[in-house]
Amino acid sequence: MSHDTLLLGQTLTFDGSPFDQGPGAARHVTHGGVLIRDGRILETGDGAALRAAYPAARIENHGDALLCAGFIDAHVHYPQTAIIASWGKRLIDWLNSYTFPEEMRFADPAYAAEIAGRYLDLTTANGTTTVCSYCTIHPGSVDALMTAAQARGQRVLAGKTCMDRNAPDGLLDTAQSAYDDSKALIDRWHGQDRLSYVITPRFSPTSTPDQLSALGALWAEYPDLLMQTHLSEQTDEIAWVKSLYPTARDYLDTYEMHGLLGAGGLYGHAIHLEPREIDRLAEVGAALIHCPTSNTFIGSGLFDMAGMVAAGQRVGLATDTGGGSSFSMLRTMAAAYEIAQLRGTPLHPSQLIWLATAGSAQALRIDQHVGTLAPGKEADIIALDLASTPAIEQRAAQATDIWEALFPTIMMGDDRAIKAVWIGGRACEQA
Ligand code: GUN
Ligand code: ZN
Repeated sequence: MSHDTLLLGQTLTFDGSPFDQGPGAARHVTHGGVLIRDGRILETGDGAALRAAYPAARIENHGDALLCAGFIDAHVHYPQTAIIASWGKRLIDWLNSYTFPEEMRFADPAYAAEIAGRYLDLTTANGTTTVCSYCTIHPGSVDALMTAAQARGQRVLAGKTCMDRNAPDGLLDTAQSAYDDSKALIDRWHGQDRLSYVITPRFSPTSTPDQLSALGALWAEYPDLLMQTHLSEQTDEIAWVKSLYPTARDYLDTYEMHGLLGAGGLYGHAIHLEPREIDRLAEVGAALIHCPTSNTFIGSGLFDMAGMVAAGQRVGLATDTGGGSSFSMLRTMAAAYEIAQLRGTPLHPSQLIWLATAGSAQALRIDQHVGTLAPGKEADIIALDLASTPAIEQRAAQATDIWEALFPTIMMGDDRAIKAVWIGGRACEQA
């Protein structure tokens, strides 16, 4: 077929999870290839064999670069792009000092469109092909991101952030308007092209019980949607939640009692959990989203990856920009590794890259579409240069297997390691 494209390079994909099966869950081919047809992966395997099987395919040879699934960032705040790396505050002060004033600016659709485009440029340059984003309380902030993603053919998940207390005037909705606006946005965007709407109460402190109930009722009307929020990020925040919801058994219960606990729930951070919360999250099959650069940057704590995996939790990986200090999922994997080291339970490179691709896809329940190079998946692919700087190159030169070759890029790599990006089979210009 004349429209086929054959990417040649090293290939890395997964048949299963390295948390269950070890590094053997990965399929690495040194001289591999990925055949793309109509925006999807038709076959992944030996490069020479694919060349012979598809002689009419247009060949793109990426040499020693590593072809793998595009990164999936499972928890971000695109409106915080312009305040990333703001100094000196912990969560509540950081929100009040930097975040809320910036989010106010999204009342202006032109500003929202500018930042949405800037954000997708930055993340694409970092090899991220899908994000799950909070927007602001303004419905126009959802329109801006969805419109930009749709124009790029990107798989993006996002929702209007709902807040009806403990935020400045101008950044508050109500229980009813949060319900109505979210519902209208579901109708407008959910299922359009590659877009998904996510019901998005910011966190219990900025919602009244009425608002949480309204959003719980909305989720019950659309049970296949995802719901994203924050859970147990900082100890001060947990104390505040206790005072705001005196009858709740714990932080998770503030969601559970309002219909906001379920298999499609995405709970960001989830650092300081009680045993009951861990049990309930595992029981319902919810997903925890690990945000390592944010957790160190805002001073939140050390997520217990090994403990959560042992407890049977589904875990995704995320930057949490702009609380997170980087747009790069490479830097995010490095931070996850460092936090696991501080807990004495190191993560293998196969686990790190799985979390940033297939693991996040599973957490977001989009793994039937993206997250590996398996046949039938949408062709969201990146080419990683495993020798993108002199420091990385000299270390990788000593490598005796793919994991030793990849790990220096995970630990020291940045956007210079992203040699090429394909979204739905189309090469991106700016990468
Ligand atoms: N908790 C509630 N809102 C936020 C936010 O915007 N960022 C982070 N890191 N935590 C939150
Ligand atoms: Zn967040």
